[in-house]
Amino acid sequence: MKIDHHIQESLIVRPQNSSPYPVFIQESFSPKGKIFLPERENEGSYFLIADSTLPTNILSPFLSDASHHFPKGKKDPHVIWFQGEEKNKNFHSMEPIYESLIQAGADRRSCLLALGGGVIGDLCGFVAASLFRGIDFIQIPTTLLAAVDASVGGKTGVNLRYGKNMIGSFHHPCLIYFNLSCLKSLPLRARIAGFAEMLKHSLLVSNPSVMDQLFCLSPQEDMRESNFQDLKLAIIHSIRIKSEIIAQDEKEKGLRAVLNLGHTTAHALESIYRQNTSDIDGMSHGEAVSRGLVTALLLSRRLKNLSPSYLERIFQKMNEWNLPCDTAGCSAEQVYRHTAYDKKNRRGNSHAKPAYVLLEAPGKPVTDQQIDRSDFHAVWMEQKSRFS
Ligand SMILES: NC(=O)c1ccc[n+]([C@@H]2O[C@H](COP(=O)([O-])OP(=O)(O)OC[C@H]3O[C@@H](n4cnc5c(N)ncnc54)[C@H](O)[C@@H]3O)[C@@H](O)[C@H]2O)c1
Repeated sequence: MKIDHHIQESLIVRPQNSSPYPVFIQESFSPKGKIFLPERENEGSYFLIADSTLPTNILSPFLSDASHHFPKGKKDPHVIWFQGEEKNKNFHSMEPIYESLIQAGADRRSCLLALGGGVIGDLCGFVAASLFRGIDFIQIPTTLLAAVDASVGGKTGVNLRYGKNMIGSFHHPCLIYFNLSCLKSLPLRARIAGFAEMLKHSLLVSNPSVMDQLFCLSPQEDMRESNFQDLKLAIIHSIRIKSEIIAQDEKEKGLRAVLNLGHTTAHALESIYRQNTSDIDGMSHGEAVSRGLVTALLLSRRLKNLSPSYLERIFQKMNEWNLPCDTAGCSAEQVYRHTAYDKKNRRGNSHAKPAYVLLEAPGKPVTDQQIDRSDFHAVWMEQKSRFS
């Protein structure tokens, strides 16, 4: 694989039973240098599935004279536009993509490039996993959340009306490429969502320097290149935390479930919003995770004696960062009932209690903690009175 000297930082994700793949992080789209792109065995054509709402500075390196970045003899990729919004992350959106790919001559040797946030990455990854029973794909995340979380680890999929990510498969990219300059155009709301996932990763490890380093940053900070060094380090920490977990448990048979910290509540909130409001994107995934982390931390204090001072430090930072911590107008019973539908809690029994990831101590997650209705109600009331 050829690596360009402008690529400044590299990491390797080594899933337990799948091929390793590199993560390249670059600080700007250099006019001189190539972007990335490996020589692949049995190389076929590239197809770019791009978020149609991305600004030109991100799109143009992949559109105008893109073949400059590709291994010798390759043409510019065929482009398929897609509106990267949660409401479009479903089965109906996939069929036209399969059709466009086939009409444009995709075959088993083709490689998809997913250029966009987590919605594009999840959907395009699932197209790549299923087309011709699996073709190569490359993740090119353009949001912070997708860079630190969604692009890493091979989970791909789409939503059903019954819940998030219910249809999908594990299919790792052959490479992840993230250019920090994408963050310059990222709206504050999306940056905040990325900080929620980075906070989650920092809660999973006991090395306090990871959290200390993250807490020196802020989503409100200007996304200028001069501010990128510290942010880049935090992004690398976050990707490492996730990839070390995946190296031990690729398919969520055990340890990987710790990455669902905050997600039992989050997926319930996202489903409630999808069903009850016309504004499906009214609550982003990162915003739901932020609220879900608060629930998980309060449950951890109540049921696992997690230190109140530790909680206060985190809540204070979440407040400074403007991370949403409230109950989003949802009742305790509404959320508790929805958690039973979360695919992560499925035990073949719809009356099962929801299973949460909790913290026994800082950096010590425990999975599969079944939560009684009364405990959930008490904690939700506390979250509501404190943060609404
Ligand atoms: N596969 C996984 O392991 C995993 C992990 C976490 C989250 N996810 C999924 O990721 C999705 C959320 O991802 P997201 O937060 O990136 O949301 P997103 O993909 O919806 O992007 C957020 C918004 O930002 C816009 N955007 C993207 N990049 C931009 C840029 N550089 N400048 C300006 N605007 C830009 C998009 O058009 C969109 O409107 C959810 O569907 C979630 O389920 C998956």
